[in-house]
Amino acid sequence: MERTNAIHEGKAKIIYATTDPNQVIMYFKDEATARNGEKRGTIQDKGIINNKISTYFFKLLKDRGIPNHYLGTPEPRDMLVKKIEMIPLEVVVRNIFAGSLAARFGKEEGTPLSMPIVEFYFKCDELNDPLINRYHAIALNIARLDELNEIEHLAFSINAILKEILNAKNVDLVDFKTEFGRDENGKIMLGDEISPDNCRFWDKDSKRKLDKDVFRHDLGSPEEAYQEMLRRLTE
Ligand code: TMP
Repeated sequence: MERTNAIHEGKAKIIYATTDPNQVIMYFKDEATARNGEKRGTIQDKGIINNKISTYFFKLLKDRGIPNHYLGTPEPRDMLVKKIEMIPLEVVVRNIFAGSLAARFGKEEGTPLSMPIVEFYFKCDELNDPLINRYHAIALNIARLDELNEIEHLAFSINAILKEILNAKNVDLVDFKTEFGRDENGKIMLGDEISPDNCRFWDKDSKRKLDKDVFRHDLGSPEEAYQEMLRRLTE
């Protein structure tokens, strides 16, 4: 499988076409951004670590029956994935108040939610990814109702699986962001990545943050946090 031309460059990844029209390569960069590009920096070897962590989660989720785009990890920064039509939604699942939810409701970070919740954000940099509901998503032709139902169902299933795995690693899954797409038959599939860039992982005992919040809020060494998360998953 040969990587050919770049077809899209995002903040953390570059998507390359390949010699197979049904497959693309996601190249994981070390560059990190926060607050929609306002803060910029580099987290040494982040690309390699996020590719490893995402590989770990995608394989595990596939084994547990969650359809996803993962096909292989041919290079340390390259993930081979099925080409799917991405739906422009950031699908966030939350178990514990943190980040924008804590701010929105004036709650202290770390307050548990009485049940997991799912939120949809419209993926649009110019609008700063606004929070939307199902009516907006349907009326704006972002996704159909049956697709949103399937996305929610998959998002909660992913949450249950990840929580169980992370529990055994002494990590709390505070929240995470996923993205979904449609395959050639219109079937909904998990895409993008699952890594410390788009999840909040806290050590269960010390509540130490093992994710991008260390970079977002200058809380120490993001490299150490990402390495520690990889170590916990793979040792
Ligand atoms: P938030 O609390 O800032 O809304 O973030 C919720 C989760 O979603 C958190 O794990 C970080 C992740 N996230 C992204 O991956 N990309 C984004 O652009 C944002 C705003 C959040």
